Amino acid sequence: MKTKNVLIGITGGIAAYKSCQLIRYFKKSGYNVKVIITKNGLQFITETTLRTLSENAVYSDTFSNSNEWSTEHISITDWADVFIIAPATANIIGKYANGIADDALSTSLLAYNKQVIIAPAMNDKMYNNPAVQRNISSLLAQGVFFVEPGYGDLACGYKAAGRMAEPDEIFRESLYFLNKTEKLEGRKILISAARTAEFIDPVRYISNCSSGKTGFRLAEASSFRGAETVLVSGPSDEKCNNFIKRIDVVSSEDMYREIIRESKDSDCIIMSAAVADYTVRKSDRKIKKNGDEIKLDLIKTKDILKELGSKKKKGQILVGFALETEKGVTNAKKKLAEKNLDMIILNETSKDNPAFGTDSNRITIITKSTIEKLPPMDKSEIAEIIFEKITALFNRGTE
Ligand SMILES: Cc1cc2nc3c(=O)[nH]c(=O)nc-3n(C[C@H](O)[C@H](O)[C@H](O)COP(=O)(O)O)c2cc1C
Repeated sequence: MKTKNVLIGITGGIAAYKSCQLIRYFKKSGYNVKVIITKNGLQFITETTLRTLSENAVYSDTFSNSNEWSTEHISITDWADVFIIAPATANIIGKYANGIADDALSTSLLAYNKQVIIAPAMNDKMYNNPAVQRNISSLLAQGVFFVEPGYGDLACGYKAAGRMAEPDEIFRESLYFLNKTEKLEGRKILISAARTAEFIDPVRYISNCSSGKTGFRLAEASSFRGAETVLVSGPSDEKCNNFIKRIDVVSSEDMYREIIRESKDSDCIIMSAAVADYTVRKSDRKIKKNGDEIKLDLIKTKDILKELGSKKKKGQILVGFALETEKGVTNAKKKLAEKNLDMIILNETSKDNPAFGTDSNRITIITKSTIEKLPPMDKSEIAEIIFEKITALFNRGTE
């Protein structure tokens, strides 16, 4: 696949230093990056830093003899698959909204006809100024995507809303636009992720090691294909883009309730969460440290996958996960049949493949008629492969 091109515009705000991290995220993920910076932006960060991080010449002066092309504002925008302005000052937002092209960045913005992403950063009084809000509304109406500023310490000493979104959030939202297709448009995909926590008493719980990385990467892959994506997640440190509807739950009972509710009109359900098999008879008060042993009463939880399998509608695709330490394929095939699944993803956890918490994994994809063992790979690549298979199942109907 062709490497995608990311153009980052930097303007004169203190958050300019955070753009360095944004460039690094894209470079680390294999994207090409070029930078345009305003004259005022260069008061905050140097061209040398940006050239070194992006591994490309930096464009800042419309008429400079060192530009690669005499009409650099056209060639650089033809080159870019997305154009991100981070940080975006009140000034650049105003210029763009009103069609002003008086420097390299504002001229390039007007010459660009693909997706523009803006991460505003400014003092809260500037941000809430009616003129700025009017300009933002006008850009929103023309399809510009805004990564909203957050609440926090501002350079002016105030604690308020106006702080640029963190680079990892800008990166995540941009990935959506860079990878967007319409392969699953009109479909609703429901995904469960991470672990559940079963409370023993008001302050303690039992749980497992599932990080949620696989489920979150699956939700991203689903959103990239244009599906309406619902992610029901147990406790997790993972984050997802804003095109995914995220529902946070804690216990297996919460997970059951949300999944059953959302499953009714879903075209595909992927149960990647490690839901507890047993919950605890919870004490209303904190259990005291009395005696050398205590006993917990464990009660079997509801089998969500089994219930989904038994109620499966015609054409609905149901995907389960199996984590095994022995007889992996045999046990996974049994689960596939017993729970009426269309596909099961087998994780075989071992010393060299912990499966939990890591960014990569080695899985086997099993359907009613196929078994495919994949080499170790990144969880986002795994999500892409699983979604190619789900798309194929949709196209030819379930087996
Ligand atoms: C220390 C300092 C920090 C600034 N931070 C911001 C900011 O975060 N957001 C903003 O809109 N303007 C900020 N400004 C004002 C802009 O730099 C000013 O409006 C400038 O004209 C913007 O030019 P540009 O959009 O071409 O980069 C700051 C100014 C100074 C001196």
